[in-house]
Amino acid sequence: MKITHNNNELNIKHVGKKVTLRGWVSRRRDLGGLIFVDLRDRFGLTQLTFRPEDHAYKLASTLKNEYVIHISGTVVERESKNPNIETGDIEVIVDALKILNEANNPPIAISYDDNAHEDTRLKYRYLDLRRPESQKYIIARSRITQLVREALLNRGFYELETPTLGKSTPEGARDFIIPSRLYHGQYYALPQSPQIYKQLYMVSGFERYFQMAKCYRDEDLRSDRQLEFTQVDIEASFVTREDVLELVEYVLSHTFMGYKNHEIELPIKRITYQEAMDKYGSDKPDARFELLLETPDLSAFDIPFFEGKHIRMLHVRNASHLTRRELDNLTSEAKKNHSDGLAFLKYQDGRLSGSLSKFIEVEKLSKIVDLKDEDLLLFSFSNNFEKASTGLGVVRKEVAKMLHLIDENKYAFLWVVDFPLFEYSETENRYVARHHAFTSPQNVSDLDNLDKVLANSYDIVLNGYELGGGSIRIHNSKLQNRIFEILGLDDETIEKRFGFLVEALKYGTPPHGGLALGLDRLVMLLTNTTNIRDVIAFPKTQSARDLMMGAPDYVDPEQEKELGIKR
Ligand code: AMO
Repeated sequence: MKITHNNNELNIKHVGKKVTLRGWVSRRRDLGGLIFVDLRDRFGLTQLTFRPEDHAYKLASTLKNEYVIHISGTVVERESKNPNIETGDIEVIVDALKILNEANNPPIAISYDDNAHEDTRLKYRYLDLRRPESQKYIIARSRITQLVREALLNRGFYELETPTLGKSTPEGARDFIIPSRLYHGQYYALPQSPQIYKQLYMVSGFERYFQMAKCYRDEDLRSDRQLEFTQVDIEASFVTREDVLELVEYVLSHTFMGYKNHEIELPIKRITYQEAMDKYGSDKPDARFELLLETPDLSAFDIPFFEGKHIRMLHVRNASHLTRRELDNLTSEAKKNHSDGLAFLKYQDGRLSGSLSKFIEVEKLSKIVDLKDEDLLLFSFSNNFEKASTGLGVVRKEVAKMLHLIDENKYAFLWVVDFPLFEYSETENRYVARHHAFTSPQNVSDLDNLDKVLANSYDIVLNGYELGGGSIRIHNSKLQNRIFEILGLDDETIEKRFGFLVEALKYGTPPHGGLALGLDRLVMLLTNTTNIRDVIAFPKTQSARDLMMGAPDYVDPEQEKELGIKR
């Protein structure tokens, strides 16, 4: 059935026109003998009016919320206009109504700001997605995906696919595994990323690959993490780090301009990992506000619990009003993020107060710190510099939120470069790759000192989120073998898990590198939400369940038997 307009299109210029519309009954009101219906489609709302003398009136009195209808009628100017909707100047007097489908009373309100619990919304996600507010995110996702794709196609990339039933790729999380029916006891692994396959595309000579790739990681969920998420996965041959950074800057500029009309300042500022830890206490700094971490020289003071510790300090102006409770919350944040604790000093009316005040004299302190009335000094301490810093890095963000220091309209991009190639895992008693095992070192000769060697890797950070990460890869099979050995793999394991890759690198592999952007995070940041579930049509809950389908679920015992699984 043809329609003449969408529900956001009619305005005063259409008065007198015959129109045909369709959509869902968003709301019905019976007022003074007239029936009013707000008709909704994916574009907007139009008010329909049914008069008692008209043919359609009787049927209209049976309409309920979420009925699907088709109407024709005449556009008239409204008496009381509604400036909040695009069609608020007009209404349509209906002369023909057809009900295309009826609807049960929905368990969540669809047309209004809904206050249903998130679990109910996720159980009825197909209805939740009818809410314009929810639909907005998914439509944005479609547009943003299109812009990213456009940018990569402009640069000569092929959009290629990779399998999802494969072998474990080490990206640092737990794998999801799929039992094989034909080979009992053997499993496929779902990809944590298409890392190895995209490198094999480079071995095969495709030179420029990208994919909107589904990735699976069995890790604890957070507001910016799902079990199943999408990467804009990119790889190119014959590229240097500069080439990859420039490409990603182009993709982001194209997307931010196309979606938000926002011009990203290029080139995006770069900082080293060390600088990020020193200044922000984070490897994904939120650079929307200043407030930098400092390392104070407290040698003039005798503070017993600082003895032998690394001390990091945050000097916050106009913050002496923070309450004991707020400071306690900050302390527990610091501790949750590896710091031993948080001590503080307040400076008011020329006097110091707070947990350190009995150890510190104002006169001596003011030689080290530029004290001003109402200052708050926060000190994080630990035996380990990184731990003291990361604890205070989280406090830095919390304080900024409390004091409204963050400009919510700002997009602060940063490249973080020069990460260490390895980090020592105390739980595993061995070195692990900080990015992944296929990342090349900046200087092979540095491999003699594993604590010092820097990686040829880079992260793109936006407003405190890690938006993407990548590296220039190892393309030499001997070096790849050496890195596997450093990571504690013996020859047999290397052969078993990565033999095919080491072998592939022997047949003329071009130098190559790439990066993956988190598409979900990109959409989150462009649509100003902090909840990743908003931008995924059918997400898992924080406790890893699909409430709508009821997954995960038990399967038929027959199915288990076929797979050789005993419960
Ligand atoms: P990495 O592990 O850094 O790199 O992942 C790249 C980007 O993917 C996003 N991301 C996630 N988004 C939502 N939920 C998750 N659980 C999740 N995990 C990661 C982040 C992250 O920056 N193969 C490499 C890329 C490469 O080297 O080219 C990789 O996967 O935005």
